[in-house]
Amino acid sequence: MGNNQRPEQMKRITTKELALAFIEEQVAQVRAQVGDKKVLLALSGGVDSSVVAALLLRAIGKQLVCVHVNHGLMRKGESEQVIEVFGKELDANLVYVDATDRFLDLLAGVSDPERKRKIIGAEFIKVFDEEAAKLHGISFLAQGTIYPDILESIKAKESGKPVKSHHNVGGLPEDMEMELVEPVKFLYKDEVRVVGEALGLPHAMVYRQPFPGPGLGVRCLGAITRDRLHALREADAILREEFDKAGLAGKVWQYFVAIPDIKSVGVRNGARYDAWPAIIRAVNTTDAMSATIEEIPYALLHRITERITSEVEGINRVLYDLTPKPVGTIEWE
Ligand code: XMP
Repeated sequence: MGNNQRPEQMKRITTKELALAFIEEQVAQVRAQVGDKKVLLALSGGVDSSVVAALLLRAIGKQLVCVHVNHGLMRKGESEQVIEVFGKELDANLVYVDATDRFLDLLAGVSDPERKRKIIGAEFIKVFDEEAAKLHGISFLAQGTIYPDILESIKAKESGKPVKSHHNVGGLPEDMEMELVEPVKFLYKDEVRVVGEALGLPHAMVYRQPFPGPGLGVRCLGAITRDRLHALREADAILREEFDKAGLAGKVWQYFVAIPDIKSVGVRNGARYDAWPAIIRAVNTTDAMSATIEEIPYALLHRITERITSEVEGINRVLYDLTPKPVGTIEWE
């Protein structure tokens, strides 16, 4: 990985001009590092890996092989967007792997959050390894490491006490013998976004709210079932759509739905309707270490409740989580 200290003279990338200069410099650097060899990238569709993909496409085109693993825990439309933007519009060498069944079969009956995370992380590496083994002549592994990742891992090593095992899905398989390509490793998140826009990536992709590596897996609380996961994905899509329409997308740090494994009695079409509650959470923070609650206008909450309870099968109540961090963490698991 080489040097892990952001060069002191490096300017903050705050404008398109600075981003274009950075891109030009990185394109040259990547070409010099890689030559005519092939580079592999796990493309989740998150901001960091998307920006790295777009940057490497500019530098080395078809020498880049992107692998998108759909673990079945993505939000509605996310894998489709990766295929649309990278596979079609940018004409990247994209391998799409639908591993939904593998992940959900392994997770069946597992309710402990940390075990769920470990299973998802380990299986991700397994699937990615298997795909890498099918490809030939790959010499480099690209990663969307950013500067806070480096700083955090130094801190975690020093303290030895992370609250949750936040290993990102897509973490490096440690025994892979490939040289790393990490073109954004000295950038902060806001800089990565400026670079992403300068590269022409869609605004919604570049300003996407943070999404945990284990995805909806830690929001489908307790043991994941396909029907509850489906309800969660649909409810979450409604929440995002309504936040978007209300102009809140990009203004609120993180907003999502979690669904616990409990049912309550309700009534629908004159008959008893036992179903799950959808829990809405919308928080603001600068560093995710502490968070405050977004004051969602009541009319918006009302509309979201109406839509989720009438459009999503299996949900009969909507609850709004008013707990700041601390004492609640941002995610429920
Ligand atoms: P918590 O729940 O610890 O979350 O307050 C802080 C931030 O981290 C995200 N998060 C994760 N990200 N893998 C990730 O990549 C994980 O396992 C994970 N768990 C939580 C969370 O969404 C929030 O932005």
